[in-house]
Amino acid sequence: MASKIIGKINISAYDLASDVKYLNSVTKQSEEYDEFGQGYWKNLSVYNASGDASDTQYRNTDKCFPTEHAKQCPGIQDLVSQHFKLDNLKMIRARSLVDGLVIPHRDFVELDQATTYFRVFVALENNDEAFHSDERGVFQMMAGEVWFLDAGISHAAVNFGLKSRMFLCLDFMYEGEFEYTDIFAAPSSLAPYRNSFHIKREPFSDINKKEVIAATSKILNRFTFKDIIFTLSKYHFIYDLPVSSCYDWIISAAEQANNGEIIKKAKSLRRYLIEKRDMGERYTINDWNV
Ligand SMILES: [Fe+2]
Repeated sequence: MASKIIGKINISAYDLASDVKYLNSVTKQSEEYDEFGQGYWKNLSVYNASGDASDTQYRNTDKCFPTEHAKQCPGIQDLVSQHFKLDNLKMIRARSLVDGLVIPHRDFVELDQATTYFRVFVALENNDEAFHSDERGVFQMMAGEVWFLDAGISHAAVNFGLKSRMFLCLDFMYEGEFEYTDIFAAPSSLAPYRNSFHIKREPFSDINKKEVIAATSKILNRFTFKDIIFTLSKYHFIYDLPVSSCYDWIISAAEQANNGEIIKKAKSLRRYLIEKRDMGERYTINDWNV
């Protein structure tokens, strides 16, 4: 299922400016998937299984406690408790992405298919330079909108600018049947929301595509590989291209350069990020010893 808006919270009812300022002031910790992001990408545990803010691990738990970050964010605590049922909630993170990019990937691909993981985002502020994408298109999340994000299909995010882009990421887990409205404490208190949100992107011709692949093949090697992946993955935010076209392009460029090492590396990157990965499998973009 593609990403969509499932509700809208009247965000002006909450004093979030000081909460966002606090969250922006917290120093980023290093994280498991850092290397798939570029720029300033931060995830802070606001609610989790232990109540310990340094615990960033997502796990199946029936506990979800506010951490010390939540305690500094009374507006966010009010917003969460007034709008969401906490029963199936596993974790809430505050996510910031500034002057940066998260390359196309799928999440949860290595987990059990019998359980439904339901991830929603709530944008805490507007940012006209920040975009999200999935297999259906590119869109922007506006303040107060509650978005379902299907982390099981390919998706990516970017903020081309320097301004804050803070939002909440809520992870719910359900066994068996459920309706997405089950996450809301009071569905009737939600505001009307947009049903069409994909932005219009510029066309990108086959000739353009061939030119980019040919040019890439001339500068592609193990020293430029990682930068080129980040560069190519930005194209789909601007031009009308599939979200994961960067992986196909880098493989084609490696084939044109006839560079076996890069062909292998690019195919394994695509497999790991968007096709299939094994439980606990790790991948390091710039590890050339495997
Ligand atoms: Fe993701």
